Amino acid sequence: MLQDIPTPTLREARACVLETERLTLRRPTLADVKAIAGLANDRRIAENTRRLPHPYLQDHAVEFVRAMANEPRETVFLIENNHTPIGMVGVDWRQPEAPELGYWLGFEHWGQGFGTEAARAVIDFAFEEFDIEHLISGARVANPSSRNILEKCGFQWSGVELHRFEALGSSTPVDCFRLTRGVWSSLKSWGNSTRRER
Ligand SMILES: CC(C)(COP(=O)(O)OP(=O)(O)OC[C@H]1O[C@@H](n2cnc3c(N)ncnc32)[C@H](O)[C@@H]1OP(=O)(O)O)[C@@H](O)C(=O)NCCC(=O)NCCS
Repeated sequence: MLQDIPTPTLREARACVLETERLTLRRPTLADVKAIAGLANDRRIAENTRRLPHPYLQDHAVEFVRAMANEPRETVFLIENNHTPIGMVGVDWRQPEAPELGYWLGFEHWGQGFGTEAARAVIDFAFEEFDIEHLISGARVANPSSRNILEKCGFQWSGVELHRFEALGSSTPVDCFRLTRGVWSSLKSWGNSTRRER
């Protein structure tokens, strides 16, 4: 029966690179661990992401890259600007019925619109390549820039939940968001109309 076919995918795992105006998104490799640890070892990042430990050591990056290499769905990307790693973005499938968008950037790269640009690329990729009806995401209530990214990408607020943050060692309130396929495709097609002068 159709229902018995395991969820995702409209694509098989293969190397995939996403290009945006200023960014290249690609699979992280062991050659990137030093750069990843250099960026991620920052309390300002760890305290706003659920699972990043602090301090973040090269061993953490090795473990992470190895785990990603074994992940059949290639949806976690290293973000590069001018061939330099600046952060990570991706979809987490821990709850297959609720794929979750997450991202972080090295502190010196904040405030230039890179977060929004990277998030939009991965959102398009997720809806175009996988048979999913929605994405979820969340931002600490004390994290307006992340909330702003989600809203700019069309996510709608769905409530507040308490989530545990590894680096805090405790739970904290998180604004939860959801982007449905319907809203995403409506936003994508909205820009297609053109005005013709007579
Ligand atoms: C969240 C994060 C990725 C933002 O990246 P960024 O590249 O600086 O984000 P952008 O520039 O694309 O957009 C941020 C938006 O928030 C706005 N913003 C920033 N600080 C703000 C504040 N204090 N109040 C309200 N809006 C704020 C910016 O003006 C921008 O909106 P605009 O484009 O309409 O001006 C980055 O701060 C980060 O890595 N933080 C730590 C990890 C994290 O929070 N991850 C998200 C949790 S999953």
